[in-house]
Amino acid sequence: MNHYYPEKLDLNIVPTPCFVVDESALKRNLDVLSKIQTQTGCKILLAVKGFAMFSTFPLIRSTLKGICASSPHEAMLGYEEFGGEVHACAAAFSESDIQILLKICDHIVFNSFSQWNRFKNLVQQQDRKICCGIRVNPQHSEAKVDIYDPCSPGSRLGVPRSQFREDSLSGISGLLFHTLCEQNADALQRTIQAFEKKFDTIIPKMNWINFGGGHHITREGYDIDLLCELITSFKKRYGVDVYLEPGEAVALNAGVLVASVLDIVQNDMDIAILDTSAATHMPDVLEMPYRPEIAGAGLPGELSHTYRLGGPSCLAGDIIGDYSFSSPLSTGSKLVFLDMAHYSMVKTTTFNGIQLPSIAIYKPDQNEFSIIRKFGYLDYKNRLS
Ligand SMILES: Cc1ncc(COP(=O)(O)O)c(C=O)c1O
Repeated sequence: MNHYYPEKLDLNIVPTPCFVVDESALKRNLDVLSKIQTQTGCKILLAVKGFAMFSTFPLIRSTLKGICASSPHEAMLGYEEFGGEVHACAAAFSESDIQILLKICDHIVFNSFSQWNRFKNLVQQQDRKICCGIRVNPQHSEAKVDIYDPCSPGSRLGVPRSQFREDSLSGISGLLFHTLCEQNADALQRTIQAFEKKFDTIIPKMNWINFGGGHHITREGYDIDLLCELITSFKKRYGVDVYLEPGEAVALNAGVLVASVLDIVQNDMDIAILDTSAATHMPDVLEMPYRPEIAGAGLPGELSHTYRLGGPSCLAGDIIGDYSFSSPLSTGSKLVFLDMAHYSMVKTTTFNGIQLPSIAIYKPDQNEFSIIRKFGYLDYKNRLS
């Protein structure tokens, strides 16, 4: 994949570590999502779990209809900073979670009938209209990596058909399935087929169906025509509203993480220690795992100078990978990690007290770079007691 790189950005003015999100790249993604909404009449929500840089929410709100949250905190952020519809869905909610969600959510999706039956009365006592739904598990696996497959055997995510309680549907107006991870529309097509096969008697009783996230809509080569066709024909078949709730697709290729080399050491090979860390700034590198792309770098041995890149933490495995460069790295060299706007920013931690990356916005048309937020000692301390 050709990743976006902010070519005109002067790296000398970027303090490191720093996430730099490109507003024009976000707009490019939003244009694609907007066309899908216009063409199909579906509603697209931002999955805040994937991208929560709330200074950009007014821009995103001009296109997307609302947000979906995985917790009361995400719901509150969406309610305060985004506006529009607030949806929530999680593996389980506590009563105190529900008390918060009841005040701000338009949709609450329960992961089991026991949760729905436990909180049904509370929901129905509200003056506000809250649409309730059930997350179902179509038991159809598409995700390539096990930890991202909500349909793997024994999954806790979603009600399988055998556990579905047709007798408990009073008050339920919709269903949600989420099965995909960075996938094309053909995977959605197969999922819809599996979903319809299993839940054919339930879908006609619903007002809305949420197709979840994992749609890699803004990736080059994504089959947008097929997605539109799938949504349009589904809506026609059942007369329901269709929601999509992508996170990654909203901020795909819309930002980078800029880091500096702090030191270079040798142990069997050259090792560059950076002011960014796999463990604390890009945990998916270790979790998924994957190899992030770096602007101008190649595979080990491909260019003249090969380095292992690691973070400053104590974790022996805090290694981003081995990369080669056309000229040698030295203390102060800046490296630009590509496609870091989604998931990395929301997953940072302060393990080892490591400095959190600043968050900046870049507007290439005006060549304007502004730091929105810097973090310091208190951000570390305030998470502890
Ligand atoms: C229920 C649900 N909706 C939406 C998303 C967003 O997925 P993505 O960012 O891959 O589009 C997820 C991701 O885990 C999810 O679990």
